[in-house]
Amino acid sequence: MCGIVGYVGKQKAASIILEGLKRLEYRGYDSAGVCVLQDGQLEVAKKIGRVENLTKEAAKHRFTGTTGIGHTRWATHGGVTDANAHPHVSSDGKIALIHNGVIENYGQMKTFLTGKGYTFKSETDTEVLCNLIAYHYAKESPGAGGSRFLESVRKTLTHVEGTYGIAVLCVDCPGEIVAARKASPLILGVGEGEYILASDASALISRTQNVVYLKDGELVHVTPTAFFISTLDQADVSPVVDKITWSIQDAELGTYSHFMEKEIFEQPVALENSMRGRFSEDGSTAQFGGLNLTAAELRQIDRFLFCACGTAWHACLVAEHLIERFARIPVEVDYASEFRYRNTPLHSNTLFLVISQSGETIDTLAALREAKRKGYKALAINNVVGSTLAREADGGIYQHVGPEIGVASTKAFTSQLMVAAMIALYVARMRDMSFSDGVQYVNALKGAPDLVRKALLQAPHIRAIAKRYAGYSDMLFLGRLSLFPLALEGALKLKEISYIHAEGYPAAEMKHGPIALISEKCPSVFFAPNGEIFPKIVSSMQEIKARKGPIIAIITEGAELPPGLADEVITIPECHEAVLPIVSSIPVQLLSYYIAVERGCDVDKPRNLAKSVTVE
Ligand code: M6R
Repeated sequence: MCGIVGYVGKQKAASIILEGLKRLEYRGYDSAGVCVLQDGQLEVAKKIGRVENLTKEAAKHRFTGTTGIGHTRWATHGGVTDANAHPHVSSDGKIALIHNGVIENYGQMKTFLTGKGYTFKSETDTEVLCNLIAYHYAKESPGAGGSRFLESVRKTLTHVEGTYGIAVLCVDCPGEIVAARKASPLILGVGEGEYILASDASALISRTQNVVYLKDGELVHVTPTAFFISTLDQADVSPVVDKITWSIQDAELGTYSHFMEKEIFEQPVALENSMRGRFSEDGSTAQFGGLNLTAAELRQIDRFLFCACGTAWHACLVAEHLIERFARIPVEVDYASEFRYRNTPLHSNTLFLVISQSGETIDTLAALREAKRKGYKALAINNVVGSTLAREADGGIYQHVGPEIGVASTKAFTSQLMVAAMIALYVARMRDMSFSDGVQYVNALKGAPDLVRKALLQAPHIRAIAKRYAGYSDMLFLGRLSLFPLALEGALKLKEISYIHAEGYPAAEMKHGPIALISEKCPSVFFAPNGEIFPKIVSSMQEIKARKGPIIAIITEGAELPPGLADEVITIPECHEAVLPIVSSIPVQLLSYYIAVERGCDVDKPRNLAKSVTVE
């Protein structure tokens, strides 16, 4: 939520910052702004709307300076106005600030600062923080130069309750930025004679692959020739420079119209990357490098507790199904946002796992911290290397699917399903699953990318269906067993990018309430794979048909529906139970995508949403 970019170097800062903001726009897109330190002044341009609007606004300014900061906003305090957009400049004109997060005690600070003569142009908590830095800067000894700037930020942050990723400019310190973080991500890119600060790597990857991931409670003081990291209580920190393993091409659209489309079609390769090196030599089980648990410890686990938010929570529900089905170990799934306040009783042999693409979702992080505080081993399934979650978890599994930029999660979701299937296999093989069943399971997982390729061939057919269904206002998604979570995911995908009201339900539950919604105006999407339960699903379809509800059926090859029952049929390949949720994801992703395109929606940046939700 909110994107941050900062630049110190020899190039004109504004154009580099605008390019970074464009790449960060998926983090927040209600307004954007840039501030460049030049000619002894803090020159600011900001505008509501997309970075495109800011670029036009910035063209009216003569930005020449080589030090600057920029921001894309996802509003928390104060409406979407030019005045509320960041950067904010203190009322004495000394300090400029961009901020990602929420300052909880800003009310008290504002009263204090108003008493000291500081004035405010916006309704934001950020402007209060900015003026508080200016207040401390004015009080610090003027002889101290750059350290006066650093110390004023440090002092301010010791009074702050809340979360922040900030980057600060001081009018008296050209070539310098002070940045800090607490619960909001911040990365420093170390380039050739330049430094780039950003809330995620996509904003700096075009300039450098060398990065330092700042930790909570750390500040970085960037100067033209060096950077220094220290903590809030003034301890020096030795930086660790990591290398980003993906490249700029991974964060670009190429020939696709939207990142969501690109990411849907990347799934076969993404799945291969999630599996790479993770099967035992005898081909009968999975293996993971970073769990930090011995086989003996794992054998003692008699319960799993999964927590996550949104799409990742749906992946947890699939994990529940697979682990219980194949390893016969009870699994509980909770919303991360509920777990942190519910004070759930945990049993000593429970393994706590969180799933998060970004690794920055604040509720998921809070759930992890709560489990750790209670003394449990807490593992993470996570895509973004170096994320806060990855660093705080006791161990975990990286998804390795490269950057996911579309706000609607697609390739990260199917990769989470793949990792869940591998965990189920791993613990099942430690218990009752036989060698030959293990080999069969492994071969099924290895075959998943090709099955997904095959399912993707349905794209033109699904696009034609989407054209016929794009005008509806309500839709139901119905599935059973491991495909009930897919019904939830299908409904979430559709509503978040096309704004069609959609609900996911277990197919048989439909008759206990949602059936009241059924009419010719409310289509239902049914997952109807071949198998034991197929006749039951067909019965549910009949009940919908009897009430004139249009039906889109997603069946597996060979399944035979009574003639005329479904209005539309999408066929996916027959597959192993562990792979079925992965392959079944494809038609609902494509259907949602094409419906949203048909309705003219901004697929990659749906209204009110942001890619990673770093506020509570
Ligand atoms: O980065 P995370 O996986 O923790 O994100 C969790 C949710 O915010 C995310 O899955 C959200 O629901 C997506 N917009 C779904 O497409």
